[in-house]
Amino acid sequence: MRQIKPDIFEVGAIDWDRRLFDEIIPLPDGTSYNAYLVKGSEKTALLDTVDPPKWETLLANLTEMGVKKLDYVISHHAEQDHSGSLPNVLQLFPDAKLVTNAKCKGMLIDLHEIAEDRFMVIEDGQEISLGNKTLKFLLTPWVHWPETMCTYLAEDKILFSCDFFGSHLATSDLFATDMAKVMECNKRYYAEIMMPFRNIIVKNIAKIEAYNIEIIAPSHGPLYNKPQIVIDAYKEWINEDKVENKVIVAYASMHGSTRKMIDHLVKALMNRGVGVQQFDLVTADIGKLAVETVDAAGIVLASPTFLTGLHPAAAYAAFLVNALRPKTKYLAFVGSFGWAGRIVDQVKQMLSNSKAELFEPLLIKGLPKNEDFKKLDELAEKISNKHKELIRT
Ligand code: FEO
Repeated sequence: MRQIKPDIFEVGAIDWDRRLFDEIIPLPDGTSYNAYLVKGSEKTALLDTVDPPKWETLLANLTEMGVKKLDYVISHHAEQDHSGSLPNVLQLFPDAKLVTNAKCKGMLIDLHEIAEDRFMVIEDGQEISLGNKTLKFLLTPWVHWPETMCTYLAEDKILFSCDFFGSHLATSDLFATDMAKVMECNKRYYAEIMMPFRNIIVKNIAKIEAYNIEIIAPSHGPLYNKPQIVIDAYKEWINEDKVENKVIVAYASMHGSTRKMIDHLVKALMNRGVGVQQFDLVTADIGKLAVETVDAAGIVLASPTFLTGLHPAAAYAAFLVNALRPKTKYLAFVGSFGWAGRIVDQVKQMLSNSKAELFEPLLIKGLPKNEDFKKLDELAEKISNKHKELIRT
């Protein structure tokens, strides 16, 4: 249990050792499941719970604080890392009302079989009073599920934002102090969770900015007592016009042909002043690659032909780019083959969600030869010219 302000506490759990989320997202820095207890002069509310394996920690915190009665349990988001301990909480506090929006209610019933009569359904902008404290509910859909919402605690100027603005970071700091580290984790979180929904995030940021916010209290990672830093970072990331002089070169190579192409291309790009982030997809931290897609101007994917198609590591990267839909302005593909294949068609199909310009793919047979290196120089030149167009100085 950690006190944020008088009568406002963080009562969730730090998960120092978790290394994978949703069985796909790497967690190099662990995470936390923040839950908040707000004690008003008349009523008490718990905001969100914790991932079920951490239920004992939440229970211990509530017990240590001598919480005998909860009037409200607020559920901002139905995903199990916040809702998973709701059944335990509702059993422990049989008089507590489960407060959420209609969409979240349906999902909580689906996921946890919670009885209808436990719910109190709220609308956007609705308030409930705890006596000397008022909770105002703001529906903020698609950060990152359709039912997500925030709570604004007016008297203390705290926005409880759930996943929105969160970071997968296990830290003993209640408030973000090492901002470089926190923002690195925050950007990673945005890339992996929020980025596909950035058009809607624009509206949600405008909505929350109408309130005087002194503290953002997310459900993962430390709280922000300088909230404008994280709000401004989000504004940069969601700005479709703002990309950096950076191209991601993500490759797999089996026998060295593709690797030779990449070595040549990267050098040609650097000689032209283009920033490069190179990833060997077989060993890369895929989360780090996702982070770079937040503001890279372009992506070059490179793969040998494996059983007529993409190398599986390259296919995984293509799938990820297609799913995360970064604001990247162009995509290029280079690859090699031994006899034949349908790799180019597969790449086009796998990147079909992307609105980025797809440069003419460059596929070579066997080892790259002089004419192939010339084509790679031409590609580097094209990328360099594109960056001059895109990057405002
Ligand atoms: Fe932290 Fe979408 O759950």
